[in-house]
Amino acid sequence: MAGQGYISIQNSARDALDPPALEGANWQPTGPPVDNGFHGFGQRGERHMNKLGLAILAVPLAGLGFLVWNMLAPAPQSHSMTPPDTSAQQPGAPLAEVTLPTELSQNARIGQRAFEAKCAVCHGQNAAGQNGVAPPLVHPIYRPGHHADAAFLIAARNGVRAHHWKFGNMPPVEGITDGEVQMITRYIRELQQANGIE
Ligand code: HEC
Repeated sequence: MAGQGYISIQNSARDALDPPALEGANWQPTGPPVDNGFHGFGQRGERHMNKLGLAILAVPLAGLGFLVWNMLAPAPQSHSMTPPDTSAQQPGAPLAEVTLPTELSQNARIGQRAFEAKCAVCHGQNAAGQNGVAPPLVHPIYRPGHHADAAFLIAARNGVRAHHWKFGNMPPVEGITDGEVQMITRYIRELQQANGIE
């Protein structure tokens, strides 16, 4: 019977809400129960409405769960994103238009000096990137939700295997301390914020 198949689809949609990423989401259906006139299977209409509500929310929630899972994925190499195509640009051209913040915090200014000494040779002035060399760090790919501060420490310590761009690997950065990388990260975050990347 048609109704039966419908209910079982709803149930499997609800099952999709069960993965651990959504634990604690604790979603509750809202709004007054509406009697849809469907009182089958010995349960009250209200209950069916709850299931229907769940089924309707399952799709966006599953999407949200996937996003959260993506953000929590530990290894930077484990996610995939199509590398932006920069082939139309000149080699060495900046890949982002960076609006400079009106002022930087003291730590960010220390970070700026370290960045200019150790990173700008590849990542360019103001971390705007250089086509064919290294990506702009002022870019939505490197927003805190996608590349947490730890990604900067790991990048400087271990280098980075090319995965977002086609510019080759980043080698480990010699002669830099974790403290300096933290200041650099502060600097990049303030540049990102000034460019609406949060
Ligand atoms: C020799 C060139 C070079 C230098 C020097 C360099 N980088 Fe990179 N960096 C790259 C390239 C190329 C990538 C892009 C890898 C890819 O395809 O995702 C990258 C990626 C990154 C990433 C992204 C890491 C990830 O998990 O995806 C961060 C963060 C980063 N660099 C920070 C820095 C910092 C901080 C410095 C200076 C201390 C620095 N880089 C110096 C070439 C360089």
